Amino acid sequence: MTTRAKITGTGMYVPERVVKNDDLAALMETSDDWIRQRTGIEERRYIDPGTQPADLAYAAASNALESAKLKPSDIDCVILATLSAQADFPGTSFFLQEKLDAGEIPCFDLRAQCSGFVYSLSVANSFVRAGTFRRVLAVGCEVHSTGIDISTEGRDVAVLFGDGAGAVVVEANDDPSDPSEILAVNLHAEGRHAKRLWVEIPGSGNTPDRITPEMLAQKRHYPHMEGRFVFKNAVTRMPEVLRETVASADVGLDDVDLFLFHQANLRINEFVANQLEIPAEKCLNNIQRYGNCSAASIPILLDEAARSQRLEPGNLVSMTTFGSGFSWSSALVRW
Ligand code: UT7
Repeated sequence: MTTRAKITGTGMYVPERVVKNDDLAALMETSDDWIRQRTGIEERRYIDPGTQPADLAYAAASNALESAKLKPSDIDCVILATLSAQADFPGTSFFLQEKLDAGEIPCFDLRAQCSGFVYSLSVANSFVRAGTFRRVLAVGCEVHSTGIDISTEGRDVAVLFGDGAGAVVVEANDDPSDPSEILAVNLHAEGRHAKRLWVEIPGSGNTPDRITPEMLAQKRHYPHMEGRFVFKNAVTRMPEVLRETVASADVGLDDVDLFLFHQANLRINEFVANQLEIPAEKCLNNIQRYGNCSAASIPILLDEAARSQRLEPGNLVSMTTFGSGFSWSSALVRW
């Protein structure tokens, strides 16, 4: 018999520095109106110089452990999803593991961009169900502010992103009377669109050197995005995978109490909700305050839902993503 897995704790952390749309409008040709109308974003958070991704991850992980009433030494494995790693190698998870002082437990980074946290949740769920580990810490952590082109040339991407981290503790649930469970997770990808939203350098595919002054002058170290193409794919794939996951858990869309969508663009999420006839009051968004935090968006949103009493024991919560890769995914959890 497999052991069911449940989420027992959530946590988040965002840096204190608030960057409003008008702050960006002072640095590039954009406006508060344009950003709000097209994306819903009002402000985002940026780290201060010297802060490391692992600092954000550690704060989020500590909050998640506290809410699960656990100590770092109780954890068996750390999975950290990111597209903005602290160093080229090793992964940010190793810097987090050092800070946690959790012993010589395994840790690794997972690279599935904006879908990274739900991919991590799937891996954590499988580890627990297989009996490999009993307690897994799954983290999403991004520092975008040091990797975007804050100029008119880069404005299509720069205005979207923010820094932050979110975390959950996934534990074995051996109690047959406890319905809490990760019920279903579905993961998808379409690598033929990898270059529609990507950062090209540094990358080992660039020969003979991964990075040169010429490449930097061409700004190839900044994200490049075909925004409209990404938007169209997001509003198709997200409803598709959400339906698939709800069906695989053998429940109806109406049974879901709370829908959490990746926070890339409020208009995408409104479009998806309309298509599926999901009432607005069943959706939670925080992109207005944090922008797009990629792999950190869903765990930050989940923590805010848990702490604001939007989630009661027994509720069904759905999490759905779309992002670079392309990658898309959905998870359904009985709280
Ligand atoms: O998390 C990963 C997944 N990412 C996403 O899901 C993002 C998906 N894409 C989007 O959300 C939208 O494509 C954007 C919000 C990024 C852009 O909105 P859009 O309606 O697709 O705009 P566009 O790129 O077609 O550009 C329209 C106009 C252009 O000007 P012209 O050529 O019409 O004169 C752009 O140069 O808006 C201009 N523009 C801006 N203007 C002011 C682009 N970015 C900005 C900006 N401020 N920040």
